[in-house]
Amino acid sequence: MARSIQPSLTRQLFDKAKEYSDVIDFTLGDPDYMTPRHIREAGIKAISEGKTKYSANAGIAELREAVADNIYRETGVKYDAQSETIVTVGAMEALYLSLCCLVDPGDEVIIPAPYWINYEHMTLMCGGKPVIIDTDEEHDFIASSKQIEAALTERTAAIILNSPSNPTGMVYDKKTLEDICRLAKKYDIIILWDECYKTIVYDEKFVSILECGNIKDNLVVINSCSKKYSMTGWRLGYAAAPAELIANMTKLQENIVACASLPSQYAAIEAFKDSTDDTEKMRLGFLNRRNILVEGINKIKNLSCKYPKGTFYAFVNIKDTGLDSITFAYNLLEQKQVAVVPGITYGESCDDHIRIAYTVDEDKIIEGIKRIKEFVEEL
Ligand SMILES: Cc1ncc(COP(=O)(O)O)c(C=O)c1O
Repeated sequence: MARSIQPSLTRQLFDKAKEYSDVIDFTLGDPDYMTPRHIREAGIKAISEGKTKYSANAGIAELREAVADNIYRETGVKYDAQSETIVTVGAMEALYLSLCCLVDPGDEVIIPAPYWINYEHMTLMCGGKPVIIDTDEEHDFIASSKQIEAALTERTAAIILNSPSNPTGMVYDKKTLEDICRLAKKYDIIILWDECYKTIVYDEKFVSILECGNIKDNLVVINSCSKKYSMTGWRLGYAAAPAELIANMTKLQENIVACASLPSQYAAIEAFKDSTDDTEKMRLGFLNRRNILVEGINKIKNLSCKYPKGTFYAFVNIKDTGLDSITFAYNLLEQKQVAVVPGITYGESCDDHIRIAYTVDEDKIIEGIKRIKEFVEEL
């Protein structure tokens, strides 16, 4: 199995970008903002106080209470911190543990494209079969319940939904989510709901699937501190799910990582207090960057980009350049030292797009747009 998993094109482009000295790197979804000071200090304090040991496998009680409180505050849905939440090593581990528990060899996992490549790889790592359903730009790359229903089989174990989406930045609307919830309940399918970017939304309110039907029994909520608090390196995520699933995930956790890093757990407790406006400042910073980027891209001949509603990614349509996404990305890097991710990373149907992560400052974005314009005009 391991041989069938290839390093992602995102990482390949990121690594290749390092070969150039004056490169504008738009590849990784790793915000350039510092983790807010009070959160860093909480982590440092934990280390100074010797909170440097293993914790309970599912995470310390205080943090799990904070997770459950947070979900209740935002959606009105109650989770029991003790039995229905788990703290993990990033959202990634929460996703992986969920899939390990839900997928038996040969089971199918429905993944709407464009999708974050890790969903496909993790499904394969669990012996599952990714079932990709294509969406289109006209419908903001949002999968409908009809499309999902058409992909269901007796082997369907789960559906993965990501809103706001990496790589498109689009968000699921309430009506679509209500339809999908009805479907999940009718066929008793579990939805893995990855809402890692939910606080980075710009033009409309984020809709949680928990507000769209009585779906708690068929749902795994996945989230983390990575994007909201710019804490990617702290590796702190969590899941909320039915008690039986959390118990199974906790058993696997014991055998894989034992627990999430303890200082990171204390830093997360501080983060959850949302006691400063640092995260709002970051969101507004991303909004400003989004506007500069999308406006600039849309002025370039043969490129177009819808305004992403959230995240820090823009999914740029390159179809009219006549290049496939890998050729576009590698030639752009070699000729103009701008690194982007080929759309094909996010599904076979996405070869006419590239992804730009606006996780760099405004000056770099402006310089990047200038170089992309030169590249396209010289084609
Ligand atoms: C859609 C999505 N889910 C999950 C993650 C992983 O987040 P974490 O750093 O919490 O593991 C990422 C990271 O880029 C992501 O894009």
